[in-house]
Amino acid sequence: MHILVINGPNLDILGKREPEIYGSLSLWDIENQLKNKFPNAKFEFYQSNSESGVIDALHKAMESSVIGVILNAGAFTHYSYAVRDAVAAIKAPVIEVHLSNTDAREEFRKTSVIAPVCRGVIAGFGARSYELAASYLLEE
Ligand code: DQA
Repeated sequence: MHILVINGPNLDILGKREPEIYGSLSLWDIENQLKNKFPNAKFEFYQSNSESGVIDALHKAMESSVIGVILNAGAFTHYSYAVRDAVAAIKAPVIEVHLSNTDAREEFRKTSVIAPVCRGVIAGFGARSYELAASYLLEE
């Protein structure tokens, strides 16, 4: 029941960053909510503002104990082929999540270069996007 939760750029400042879009919870709050809601799962949390940090965290999913990855790649979602290639290399399912409904926002956010290599995408449910992804992985 080992799940990696990987957050990309600017997600370290959740709570302070455009709260009308991303909500008032900090990343720490979201991580704690996950741990409380799924006490039997072993979550490992990573956040990086750099592409290499996100990719290095994705490589950890190659460990055999990992049953899945919850990935909010932030803006990398929309253009990073390097993050996409890392996701494609992983055998465990990767769920792309977003706090906001990216399809209801600016044009550039409507493209995800990562979605085609993910198991699925959950967007627009705020912190619950992460919980929905975790319940999928844990019930799989
Ligand atoms: C986001 C949506 C992205 O477009 C944006 O760049 C983010 C956050 C979300 O969770 O809604 O950083 O991934």
